[in-house]
Amino acid sequence: MLIDSYERVVDYLRISVTERCNFRCQYCMPEKPFSWVPKENLLTFEELFLFVKVAIDEGIKKIRITGGEPLLREDLDKFIKMIYDYAPDIDLAMTTNAYLLKSTAQKLRDAGLKRLNVSIDTLKPEVALAIAGKDVLQNVLEGVNEALAVGLKVKVNMVPMKNMNADEIVDVLEYSKKRGMTIRFIEYMENKYASKEISGLKSDELLSMLREHYEFVDEGYDGASPSRYYKMSDGYRFGIIEPYGDDFCKQCNRIRLTAEGQLIPCLYFDEALSIAKSIKEGDIVAASEVLREVVRTKPEKNRWGGEDGEVSTRAFYETGG
Ligand code: 5AD
Ligand code: SF4
Repeated sequence: MLIDSYERVVDYLRISVTERCNFRCQYCMPEKPFSWVPKENLLTFEELFLFVKVAIDEGIKKIRITGGEPLLREDLDKFIKMIYDYAPDIDLAMTTNAYLLKSTAQKLRDAGLKRLNVSIDTLKPEVALAIAGKDVLQNVLEGVNEALAVGLKVKVNMVPMKNMNADEIVDVLEYSKKRGMTIRFIEYMENKYASKEISGLKSDELLSMLREHYEFVDEGYDGASPSRYYKMSDGYRFGIIEPYGDDFCKQCNRIRLTAEGQLIPCLYFDEALSIAKSIKEGDIVAASEVLREVVRTKPEKNRWGGEDGEVSTRAFYETGG
């Protein structure tokens, strides 16, 4: 079992298979980065899988594939199948912008993927264009329909931003609810790469807007989820992810691996250790030592909302949020 210095059990690994993305979301990657990680620096799926086995053997129980946009990486379903075949009981999920999902959902499901988180920030084509820098909405919605049709469980992520999509929180909630998908509103997390124009809606503002339409009770955190859940009178639950709140890090159970093998203990900070060398040499013992060291150095909490107004320098597109 992997336990950090604050006695949190770390059993959740997020793997970013590529930092590349076909969207340019305002809150993540409004500009194409100056350079991408060269393809030869990426770990192959065989190499990533070698580490996945180490991680599962050390106590990882949940794996999420992220990006950038993970579906840009060819043969992703084969990687998913490798993990599934090794450990069918692993909670195997993916976060995607859904743009390429229509043609891939069935393959992913067949490979052993169980769950998906998709970003739906708006239901208006012109707002989707403004947020993602591209006319994406139709593909996204068709992708989501296909994922549901093939039996994947889907959660929706929405980042509400003032003067952008904040007026759609009820519409996107209703859209999700109608389709049996849980929605989680994510507070915009400031970071160095995001557009300077963004003003994110904070959870108290969001809650008071939602209270104008619904009655609901606060159910608190659900296990290790970063989301606080609220239950409406008809039983539907929605979540709010508040990285600026104090409780966000208390139950954190996750570490993140980038496509080039950097193992990251916390989303906020730049610190990381590489497993690339040990994995390329097939040195399983060294790789598990790096894993344990990263767990040991996991910080107690992030600094969003800190007094000095610090901004994270970590790129979300490298870690998949
Ligand atoms: N703030 C909040 N959420 C973000 N995401 C990406 N960047 C940010 C940010 N700066 C979320 C998106 C997407 C997931 C991959 O991460 O909503 O659903
Ligand atoms: Fe791409 Fe996701 Fe970042 Fe948007 S948030 S640019 S879809 S990686």
